[in-house]
Amino acid sequence: MTDSTTTFERIPTAVFPHNQAAVAHVADAIERLVRERADAGQPAVLGLATGSTPVPLYRELIRRHREEGLSFAHVVTFNLDEYYPLEPQHPESYHRFMREQLFDHLDIPAAQIHVPPGDLPRDEVHAACTAYERAIDDAGGIDIQVLGIGRTGHIGFNEPGSGPASVTRLVTLDRLTRADAARDFRGEANVPRYAITMGVGTILRARRIFLLAWGRAKADVLRQAIEEMPSDTVPASYLQSHAASEVILDAPAASELTRHRSPWLVGFPEWSTTLTRRAVTDLSLRLGKPLLKLVDKDYQENGLADLVTSHGPAYDLNIRLFNEVQHTITGWPGGKPHVDDTHRPERAEPARKRVLVLSPEPADDILAMAATLHRLVQHGHEVTVAYLTSGNLGIPDTEARWAAQLMLEANAAETDSLARRVLDELARKSDFDQDSADLRQFKAYLRRSEARAALEQCGLNATAARFLDLPFYEAGTYRRFTVTSADVESVGRLLHEIQPHQIFTTGAAADPSSVPAQSFAAFAHAFRDAAKHAWTRDCWIWLFRSDGREWPLAEIEMAVPCSPDELDRKAQAIYQHRSQRHQTPVTDRASAEPWEQAVTRNRTTAGLYDRLGLAEYEAIECFVRWHPMSEASTSTAT
Ligand code: F6R
Repeated sequence: MTDSTTTFERIPTAVFPHNQAAVAHVADAIERLVRERADAGQPAVLGLATGSTPVPLYRELIRRHREEGLSFAHVVTFNLDEYYPLEPQHPESYHRFMREQLFDHLDIPAAQIHVPPGDLPRDEVHAACTAYERAIDDAGGIDIQVLGIGRTGHIGFNEPGSGPASVTRLVTLDRLTRADAARDFRGEANVPRYAITMGVGTILRARRIFLLAWGRAKADVLRQAIEEMPSDTVPASYLQSHAASEVILDAPAASELTRHRSPWLVGFPEWSTTLTRRAVTDLSLRLGKPLLKLVDKDYQENGLADLVTSHGPAYDLNIRLFNEVQHTITGWPGGKPHVDDTHRPERAEPARKRVLVLSPEPADDILAMAATLHRLVQHGHEVTVAYLTSGNLGIPDTEARWAAQLMLEANAAETDSLARRVLDELARKSDFDQDSADLRQFKAYLRRSEARAALEQCGLNATAARFLDLPFYEAGTYRRFTVTSADVESVGRLLHEIQPHQIFTTGAAADPSSVPAQSFAAFAHAFRDAAKHAWTRDCWIWLFRSDGREWPLAEIEMAVPCSPDELDRKAQAIYQHRSQRHQTPVTDRASAEPWEQAVTRNRTTAGLYDRLGLAEYEAIECFVRWHPMSEASTSTAT
């Protein structure tokens, strides 16, 4: 598996263009084991994970069971973990998850399934953990262990600080892990503080291990786990010591590995525009020297001798790169009319463009591009913002109660108002009961009014907002969405109606189970379906990020500067999404408020441009162009 391109990797790592191919690779290994053992009349022991990552693998196993007669009658399973305290019938319990996502669809006998118990009294937990370890040994040990990885670098719920010899035990969940689970539990405050998890040592005893990960949001932690020395700050890095562990990634998840991020360190790459830009901007930032001050020696001493030899000298490279980065900056995101646009990110004509912003959920648009939106409006473009999903799953009951109460105050005489029905339901239901159609609709209204208020801050009339309420979202829950042709048709109708010159959207290379990734899949399909229409040939598509991160500096193709006043206006616009503010007390939250995070991100980007020696702006919003017909975009789109 290792060749010169993978010399930095300390665990065998296979990168697939998309996760279906990756999943087939792991399913093949499981199928082989299960069939071999069945033929020998022996059990196969699987260690299983929950979360969104293994869901496509479970779907594939179910398919092979149904269509290809793969029997699980001789399979024994041990799950990695369970929240504590949590009843097995709780909608977010891993017991229930496993039943719904896998076990209910296979012929595996219930007695052969093991999931750590989340509902024991505290004084019985230790004995149960010991018994769990013993049960694994009694079953002959785990043959194949399937793992996901958390953004903290956890495997199972072994958070940073977990040692390589740790065993099944009760652990305290990291704040970031609880924040990541907040949506599933409808608010961070509802996420259990503890979990029972197999230890790192338990996992390492498995005979074979597959760590799976999809999407760009995990790329940083994966690089640490795969390329840095093993340490308890990234518990997944301990897989390096295992003789038969393998990391299985889709392309976006692998994007920070040295072979992709800095291929000049492992070979002689083709110096494409993006790669050259990455190498030179990295060098400038690492050495703390503006682009125009780099000298040949800087290149030679930092692994870039090949670049400076083939494309140098440094002076020429520096000027070229400085100009390229300079040309990404524009205060005219819709194009500057009537000027030479050769070196501008957007074309000048048509001077007034029809611009369509596709926001997966309300607020994604504003978080990424409030200042850009404001400029587009100021420059006279015809802007429509379409919210692809209602976003109603993101509204806590407390917000719905507050709003329904307000409506009722204003309308006290009405006996069967929506507000009264909503209040009655909220009084009856527990936090985890599914919302009725009424309540989901009501929550959707809340998000609509927030979205309109935010758009007004950006100078847009409330009528510029369109709400598609795509069916995939209304039929699903977080992490379990599947786009269908009804979604594609709905986006297609909107595209056809507006026939935009410019589209801003997000979700390419995101975790495939996320709302942005599913929304993007619907859009990408709809756009390609529309390819026969002339307007698509004159439509430029710009991507913003919606996973709390920013585009890598070298990939940015349009950088829209914000003045201090514009940044203030952006924070105000984000603030209009009141239901998205933290619902927990300040002392109890893992991260800053949404507007603080967005402002910090945009200031950080401006800081990077400044350090390269370009103009010093207060903040910058940035975008990457998407080319719908190119191979690279298709592989990350779905
Ligand atoms: C789940 C588990 C966790 C998850 C990890 C990634 O049983 O042990 O380590 O694998 O948190 O979660 P997803 O796949 O939802 O991103």
